[in-house]
Amino acid sequence: MPRRFSILPPGGLSLGLLLIAPCARAQPAPVFASPILTARADALIARMTLEEKAGQLNQLTAGTLSGPGHAAGNDDELVKRGLVGAILNSTTARETNAYQKEAVGQSRLGIPILFGLDVIHGFRTLFPIPLGLSATWDTGLVERTARFAAGEASAQGVRWTFGPMVDIARDPRWGRIAEGAGEDPYLGSVIARAYVEGYQGSSLDDPSSIIACAKHFVGYGAAEGGREYNTTEISERTLREIYLPPFRAAVDAGAGSFMSAFNSIDGVPASANAFTLRQVLRREWKFEGFVDSDWAAVREIMVHGIANDERTAARKGIEAGVDMDMEGRLYVQELPGLVRSGEVPLERLDEAVRRVLRIKLALGLFEHPYVQEPPAPADQAGGRALARRAAEESFVLLENRPSKGAQMLPLVPSRGRKIALIGPLADSAADMLGSWSCEAEAREVVTLRKALADRAAEAGMAVTYAKGTDIEGGSRSGFAEAVGAAQGADVAILALGESGHSSGEASSRSRLDLPGNQEELLEAVAKAGTPMVVILFSGRPLATPWAARHAQALLLAWFPGIEAGPALVRTLFGDSEPQGRLSVSVPRSVGQVPIYYNALNSGRPKADAIAPGAPKPGEHYVNGYLDEESTPLYPFGLGLTYTNFSYSAVQPGATAMSARSINEGKSRLSVGADIRNTGPRDGTETVQLYIRLRGTSVARPVRELKGFRRVQLAAGQSRRVQFSLGRDELAFWNVDMKRVVEPCALYVWIAPDSARGTPARVEITP
Ligand code: NOJ
Repeated sequence: MPRRFSILPPGGLSLGLLLIAPCARAQPAPVFASPILTARADALIARMTLEEKAGQLNQLTAGTLSGPGHAAGNDDELVKRGLVGAILNSTTARETNAYQKEAVGQSRLGIPILFGLDVIHGFRTLFPIPLGLSATWDTGLVERTARFAAGEASAQGVRWTFGPMVDIARDPRWGRIAEGAGEDPYLGSVIARAYVEGYQGSSLDDPSSIIACAKHFVGYGAAEGGREYNTTEISERTLREIYLPPFRAAVDAGAGSFMSAFNSIDGVPASANAFTLRQVLRREWKFEGFVDSDWAAVREIMVHGIANDERTAARKGIEAGVDMDMEGRLYVQELPGLVRSGEVPLERLDEAVRRVLRIKLALGLFEHPYVQEPPAPADQAGGRALARRAAEESFVLLENRPSKGAQMLPLVPSRGRKIALIGPLADSAADMLGSWSCEAEAREVVTLRKALADRAAEAGMAVTYAKGTDIEGGSRSGFAEAVGAAQGADVAILALGESGHSSGEASSRSRLDLPGNQEELLEAVAKAGTPMVVILFSGRPLATPWAARHAQALLLAWFPGIEAGPALVRTLFGDSEPQGRLSVSVPRSVGQVPIYYNALNSGRPKADAIAPGAPKPGEHYVNGYLDEESTPLYPFGLGLTYTNFSYSAVQPGATAMSARSINEGKSRLSVGADIRNTGPRDGTETVQLYIRLRGTSVARPVRELKGFRRVQLAAGQSRRVQFSLGRDELAFWNVDMKRVVEPCALYVWIAPDSARGTPARVEITP
């Protein structure tokens, strides 16, 4: 890997203060929109036939299908005739070079192919799933993982990833919640930027840079009932406030492509949606890259019901603003005829082709269409170190109760200590990879069982392993062995959860509990009375209230990637501290879903210390359920560490500010608090800034995240953490659908999560 893409920051893995300033960097115009590249693309377009133009918008699959098959079987022929612009699912230098030779060497104009792949959380070196990475709240780390993945993928000729997935997800039944950054638009936005910058690097024509693709535009995460591919109902205000911001951040970070989604929004399929694709993306945001459809999503316009034939589907897709057709084979088939008949203007076809060619030019594909075969080996040790670090930062500690006079975790690795390791995920290498495992191989995963055995051998501890049960299925035949192991041990570590493929595409669930009979196993083991550490592996927050109440320690591990075992063992024994924070609310039961922290208040909240006239405690006629709490099991932003932090009162720099002056960008409010590490160990605290606006023209959420800082504090150390609120943070889409700051009461929290803290009040005057 080139030195400047070293995966570690200068000075190694410092946990020093990381400033998260999403909007601070100046935005240079994306290089792919430069006049020089535009002129080069136009010169080529002038020489192309209609068929060749449509060919540039035609993306076919090779290799393993990642959607329903439409393969026509004559792909090599089409490539040689210049009728294929992009290929997905080619993963080796040999294969990409072979296709490239056909395109560059044999097609009339020799235009190179753009190879795309779902490089979602690594290529060969697999990092935690994106939901886990988002729980790090560490944008620098996310960027380094994306950069490393770009290096490995590009070495095989893959110069385009279908990521980041920046869909906001408020419903953990939806399997693809695993692929995103959770429920919050602010966190989602800073993470979107980090991925784009990691993939695309500082220069697109660097051979180790790959083009990012922000997906799925838009609203896919709002699938009704969490049911995969389902329709969505999203008001324009919710779209703009919640679902669009991470996409906007991707545009601002210079993303080269977007992917249009499968879902319909208010009856209009996202891949035929002129409002989102033309009005928002092009007119308002001035996006200059190209829009790819999701897999056959233009063809599916027919199934949605707004086209009765392929020709109409192709016309509706291109008219709405989808530039490239992924594996639908409709553009190449229909566009030449549609342009000849005048149904689609030639300018629209040329515009789409121009966008695609500019990206190929920007990547330097015309100058360097081939990659070295076989590729130079990647920095495997560096990749593993990064994967371990990322996994460690992604773990979220949710319970850590006292046991025998001390907190349950970290465990002391004392000689003679007896550990029972129980559960179907303790030694399941393949499941550690999660969905979209790309080119990673299960044999490269170090499992918890292996890493714990190594550690036990070093420290003279004894580990007894009992699988207990399968991830899914109902046999109790392994229970007795598991209970026996726990009975003879000082501590029982239970590795429970979902299989790696229970989340991801086409993997929605209607339940959120532990699959199979794992809960029963847990309850049986608990009867042994041995202190329990429960490690949950999953691609979504699981509703496990029993484990929450009964385990001495509860650690969410997501799917941690190839270094799962070493990262977990280092965390369990305190060589590294858990520091992840929830990027999604964890429900108590599936019936609470959708549940998210940044909700509107209703007129009858169960508890609200701020709103005048809110119901008194104990009132019957309130928002909620008869048989369940209204609050989540664990709120957004929560995560324990191995130390404790205290927060001073929030100190605003002023008690009043003028809305006009904030709107004009002339004033900002500074707010600060002192954070102290009051515990026994050094630690990293993720300090969170939330606001609430009251007295506005439309109701605003009870809390909204507007900033955060990761602060490393030595035991006993205190630090002032300062934030600044301006137009970007305080404006919202008001009753006239204008994004403005209104006169109102502003409440500001600086807090450890979305449920704690006491706000300061500041008047926003006209
Ligand atoms: C369909 C998925 O929705 C999308 O995320 C993915 O990039 C494509 N298939 C290509 O594999």
